[in-house]
Amino acid sequence: MNKKMNIAIDGPAGAGKSTVAKLVAEQLSFLYIDTGAMYRALTYAALRDAIDLTNGQSLFKLLSKITIILKHEKSGVRVFINEEDVTDAIRTKDVTSNVSLVSSHELVRVEMVERQRKLAGNGQAVLDGRDIGTFVLPDAKLKVFLTASVEERARRRFEEQQEKGIDSNLDQLKDDIARRDELDSTREFAPLKKADDAVEIDSTTLSIPEVAELIIELAKERAM
Ligand code: DC
Repeated sequence: MNKKMNIAIDGPAGAGKSTVAKLVAEQLSFLYIDTGAMYRALTYAALRDAIDLTNGQSLFKLLSKITIILKHEKSGVRVFINEEDVTDAIRTKDVTSNVSLVSSHELVRVEMVERQRKLAGNGQAVLDGRDIGTFVLPDAKLKVFLTASVEERARRRFEEQQEKGIDSNLDQLKDDIARRDELDSTREFAPLKKADDAVEIDSTTLSIPEVAELIIELAKERAM
């Protein structure tokens, strides 16, 4: 494998990006970078400090004061704000329903993108997000745009929540996902969009290992 290769996996909420990205990274011994977790961490900190989420300046000021660490442990990736473990806290409903607003600010995005580029370094990383192929790593050797129908994405989130023992409602999840898609794709700065040179994979009828396998094959071809 080409050691300089980065892999970008973008797509709407719930398409399976993070699970697929984790698997691909594991199998290629690449670093997995969950960029959504970084926006979630900032959202969590902003809610906790009662910061006005419509104010990009205030959010940027807060972001400048915090270090977001993605710590790779045997049990998975743990997310820290400075010393505090926020891995579970960033997955609550409150954070999920506010993260699109927080991530819509240009000031916030520019700073996050800089951090993400540093983390990706010269290669051997798999990044998942919304703007990796279009903005964060426009030169990534492999770009994947992962989609699935809204119904299927809601169903997967529902199952995921059930497994975690979190109470949820399928219709509500479907509405939330559709709303996040709308916000993420229509924001002015670096919206969710397929890069022209990205390979689109519809995962509606594919399993996670099947999608990961497809991406690994593509990565191997590109590395030649
Ligand atoms: O992948 P996720 O659901 O954890 O992402 C949470 C939110 O963060 C998502 O609704 C949009 C935003 N996001 C973004 O704007 N750009 C990224 N690269 C990753 C996530």
